[in-house]
Amino acid sequence: MSRIVWGLVLLGLTFALFEAARRPSAPPPLEPTAEAIEGALTPAPEAFTFTLPAGLTDQPLVVPAANPLSAEKVALGELLFFDARLSATKQMSCETCHLPERGWADGLAQSPKFDDSLNARHTPSLYGAGFLRELYWDGRAQGLEAQILAAWEGQMGADPGRIAQELDQVAGYRDAFSEAFDAPPTPAGIVDALASFVRTIHAGDTTWDRLPKDAASLDSNAVGRGSVVFSEVAQCTLCHLPPVYSDTLFHNVGIGMDADVPDQGRAAYLRAAAGDDPTPGAEVPAASVGAFKTPTLRGVADHPPYFHDGHAETLAEAVDLMLAGGTANDALDEKLVPRQLTPEQRLDLLAFLEALSPDAATYPRPVLPE
Ligand code: HEC
Ligand code: HEC
Repeated sequence: MSRIVWGLVLLGLTFALFEAARRPSAPPPLEPTAEAIEGALTPAPEAFTFTLPAGLTDQPLVVPAANPLSAEKVALGELLFFDARLSATKQMSCETCHLPERGWADGLAQSPKFDDSLNARHTPSLYGAGFLRELYWDGRAQGLEAQILAAWEGQMGADPGRIAQELDQVAGYRDAFSEAFDAPPTPAGIVDALASFVRTIHAGDTTWDRLPKDAASLDSNAVGRGSVVFSEVAQCTLCHLPPVYSDTLFHNVGIGMDADVPDQGRAAYLRAAAGDDPTPGAEVPAASVGAFKTPTLRGVADHPPYFHDGHAETLAEAVDLMLAGGTANDALDEKLVPRQLTPEQRLDLLAFLEALSPDAATYPRPVLPE
């Protein structure tokens, strides 16, 4: 059994139960409300315990009622994640673009899909994706299950029904689905298992998490001093909120706004979501133009290049751009202002960000069923 499954059987966090909300009868507002998202991701019927790593133990994972976590689903999801039989070409798995050793991203600015067409946006890390209600750089997917179905079809060219039938021909998969769902492979089962596995991917127990947090320790080494630069001097915590180091919200920090045709980010999604019959008088919020999700900074040093367009090649380059106050444009978030640091403070800040990564290790790949 993998270390993740062993982690699952330990005592730990109990997931919060959420109240089921009725579907609203009024046309949906342009910006999805907290209630609408809560309604789509309704409560888990039974509590289940899963130990998040040190530094993240109190963070609530987002788990929909229809797909409570279980050790069997996570183990099955791990197999599916690394299995190229899930793709149209049989050459591509989730791992192709989300490599554990590259911080669950792939090191490319833009990744080619199954048909060699290039993604418009950079592949993000999967660290902490289980904390997000809205997935993708613009938040267009409500919940991991919806996002993973989209990725499976869009990135890997999958015909889900056909692939479920193919997996039904593999004895090992028939057994694994029977253990996880008491049913044969189905598209929904595949998606639910993948989502369960992705919910267990975290960058915790890092050098920073293990550092004593008393004043003397914080002052006596670069990581500790860098944490103070991060939160108090440069105030990066205005958006990169600990312990995930993301507020899971969308901000314009100007990345790509100097392009000939800037990616409108969140605003483009909100306009598309409004469809042909937008709510009368409703405009997309000005702040959504060129806004993208605040990425988690846990594990950030592991997955260059950076930003939604992947244009910053190194962590230092990305940090310098943020310290400079982003890229000037009309919708720039007022929380991002230029910050003057001494050369020592800048190096301490980089040391702190590097200390947000788990210890480097090769991820033990599962043995795929025959
Ligand atoms: C060809 C490359 C590729 C493959 C294969 C791929 N992805 Fe992705 N993934 C991406 C890109 C690119 C994005 C960001 C797209 C965007 O935001 O518009 C993404 C986004 C995600 C996200 C959202 C993370 C966030 O912070 O919002 C998750 C989760 C994810 N992928 C999981 C998966 C899973 C599970 C699979 C296998 C079913 C998979 N991906 C296959 C390229 C890929
Ligand atoms: C106004 C909110 C905000 C503030 C303040 C802020 N950031 Fe960010 N940060 C973001 C957003 C949003 C992105 C993604 C932008 C994009 O890709 O278009 C980002 C991206 C990053 C990235 C790239 C991560 C990746 O995975 O691509 C790094 C590194 C980063 N920020 C560091 C910092 C540092 C260091 C500070 C403090 C000097 C800071 N940020 C301040 C919102 C903010």
